Amino acid sequence: MKSNQPIGIFDSGIGGLTVARAVKKALPNESIIYFGDTAHLPYGDKSTAAIQAYSVRIAEMLLRKKCKVILIACNSASSAAYDLVTEYVGKKAKVFDVINPTVDFIRENYQSSKVGLIGTKQTVSAGVYRRKIEELDQEIDFTSLATPLLVPMIEEGIYHDEISRNIIEKYLSDSSLQGIKSLILGCTHYPIIKEEIRNHYRELDEEVEIIDSAETVALALKSFLEYHQLVNKEKTVPDQFLVSDFTESFEHTTKTFFGEEVHLEQIPIWDELG
Ligand code: DGL
Repeated sequence: MKSNQPIGIFDSGIGGLTVARAVKKALPNESIIYFGDTAHLPYGDKSTAAIQAYSVRIAEMLLRKKCKVILIACNSASSAAYDLVTEYVGKKAKVFDVINPTVDFIRENYQSSKVGLIGTKQTVSAGVYRRKIEELDQEIDFTSLATPLLVPMIEEGIYHDEISRNIIEKYLSDSSLQGIKSLILGCTHYPIIKEEIRNHYRELDEEVEIIDSAETVALALKSFLEYHQLVNKEKTVPDQFLVSDFTESFEHTTKTFFGEEVHLEQIPIWDELG
């Protein structure tokens, strides 16, 4: 691995740009190759087997593009395919997911407390967060809730308004989430509504820390690159934003997740497989 190789980041679609944005903030000199599998989104409702097949194929493409790191930005893909992708990639690149750095953060900061998770159906039912947190053996009372309306809500531009406030309130009032001290945002899209979630707890006068998995993985990646002297010194290659299916609407939503609209380039990744 060399420091001037790019960082590959992939997601089911455009939402993973929240992770790319956090990575850019933490590591401004890195060149990013972002891939959104817009032909197959959403992953949150797909089977584990399907997500595994997509993820390995995407990892192969990012390896061909000489990425030093492959970051699985999607929580659903992190749940379903991290082990498989890690095995497939071997020593050719370092694989990160969004779950392990978040579990490390919980281990360091939230022993003996009640920790909540919200995510897609796939992320919650796969139970990977639960298993990894329970393995810490730190008397953490873990609870999770699938919140499937939040992704389409955000993609439709419904946030920071009355409708989103009501939907968020409905989910967060679920009995399973009562008494939590921290809440993991286990989905690429949720950083967009982080402030609304914070406000929900503020209004109730409850102290709940919101854990943004995009930020935790960006900091973990930074520590890794610094430790291994793999931080890029000077950015010479521009970022690339690739998708498996292009629409203007996808391009337009990049602004929501990345903070600025970026040009998306469609690549024929699935042609060989059909
Ligand atoms: N990227 C997905 C995740 O983080 C959300 C969108 C989808 O379901 O594909 O779980």
